[in-house]
Amino acid sequence: TNGVITIDAGFKNTGSCESAITFLDGEKGILRYRGFAIEELAEKAGFLEVAYALIFGELPTKEQLEKFHTDIKSKSVVDDDVRKILEAFPKSAHPMGILSSLTSALTAFNPSSVNVDSEEEMYNAIVKILGKFPVLVAWTMRKKSGLPLNYGSRSLGYVENVMKMMFEEPNEEYIINPIIKDALDKLLILHADHEQNCSTSTVRIAGSSHAGLFASLSAGISALWGPLHGGANQAVLEMLEAIKADGGDTKKYMAKAKDKNDPFRLMGFGHRVYKNFDPRATIIKKAADEVLKDLGVEDPILEIARGLEQEALNDPYFVERKLYPNVDFYSGIIYRAMGIPVEMFTVMFALGRLPGWIAQWKEMRLNKEPIGRPRQIYIGENLRPFKSIENR
Ligand code: SDX
Repeated sequence: TNGVITIDAGFKNTGSCESAITFLDGEKGILRYRGFAIEELAEKAGFLEVAYALIFGELPTKEQLEKFHTDIKSKSVVDDDVRKILEAFPKSAHPMGILSSLTSALTAFNPSSVNVDSEEEMYNAIVKILGKFPVLVAWTMRKKSGLPLNYGSRSLGYVENVMKMMFEEPNEEYIINPIIKDALDKLLILHADHEQNCSTSTVRIAGSSHAGLFASLSAGISALWGPLHGGANQAVLEMLEAIKADGGDTKKYMAKAKDKNDPFRLMGFGHRVYKNFDPRATIIKKAADEVLKDLGVEDPILEIARGLEQEALNDPYFVERKLYPNVDFYSGIIYRAMGIPVEMFTVMFALGRLPGWIAQWKEMRLNKEPIGRPRQIYIGENLRPFKSIENR
């Protein structure tokens, strides 16, 4: 501090807003959306139901949910020119980079989604992005697999249709696997919001300048991409694969994670807020067991993950720093069992987090929050005269 400005790197001890959406207790491992316990929502609710509660504050009645889904389906067509932007990307492009680009590009095809001051204008922009985003998610996956783009079927539920758009093979009747559908529903619910995390804070600060919803979401997708945040679920699988290739030598990676001269971190471990356990990781770990058993999938990676977790939970370095598995540690194992490619894992995180980003953006705009503009403590040069290039 300089007596006027106090620096709080990473905003570890700074609150950015008052919010009524999500409650976290890092000590007790509590997570609630609009007062509802995540454990109940993951077991008893559907993803679109939870999205409605996050965005509008209450669990919907049957009629409200049906109207919400109907409105979303009516806005789910993506302009065909967006397909041309997708096709312009190299096949090697990371899906998160494609997704943030296409999400921002949607503004060009939906200009009315920018100046949204009334709740009705906000509602129209919200149902548009909830309709189009799953299409963009599926299209990024189809581009990687070289499969034709499609729209699924309007007769399906929200999550079922995402599955059909992602997985349907040409000339086959895609059958929804209820095990995968339930697991995906649960994973999307568990990722739906998490108060003022890095990507949500990015959406709020971008939106605080009154940039449009789609542009603000695009900024949030970019922040989520980082391996310290949502990108961790991809990094976890790559780490577990590396350990497997190394003959399961978890000790080598534990040593690397503890070596201050080594930038390597144990991916999927640690959290800014949870200091005893991440309640989502508890649910996902259990689901990983069930889904793999139900699907009849034997994945040696799961054994390596369990072994690594046990070692870390008994290692003083991790215990004294309160490092436990977080939401990203086991989720990739389920995505892989579903047949989702590893570079799509963070895209699935974004699909889950979309309603949370929307809810937080809407709250920020309705509360008329001021534009985000922090200060700094200057530590650069004092005043000095300009030198012409001959004298430098
Ligand atoms: C998500 O904020 C959210 O809510 C995010 C999220 C959400 O739903 O939006 O929950 C989703 O992003 C989960 C986190 C996914 N990221 C990872 O799994 C990447 C690995 N984890 C770390 O990079 C780290 O734990 C963070 C980023 C999650 C938290 O970082 P912090 O709170 O800034 O903690 P820190 O970097 O200051 O670390 C404190 C100490 C340091 O050691 P010392 O300098 O005190 O000796 O713990 C060490 C760190 O080196 N440490 C780790 C570690 N995480 C922290 N050491 C090894 N492996 C790790 N994973």
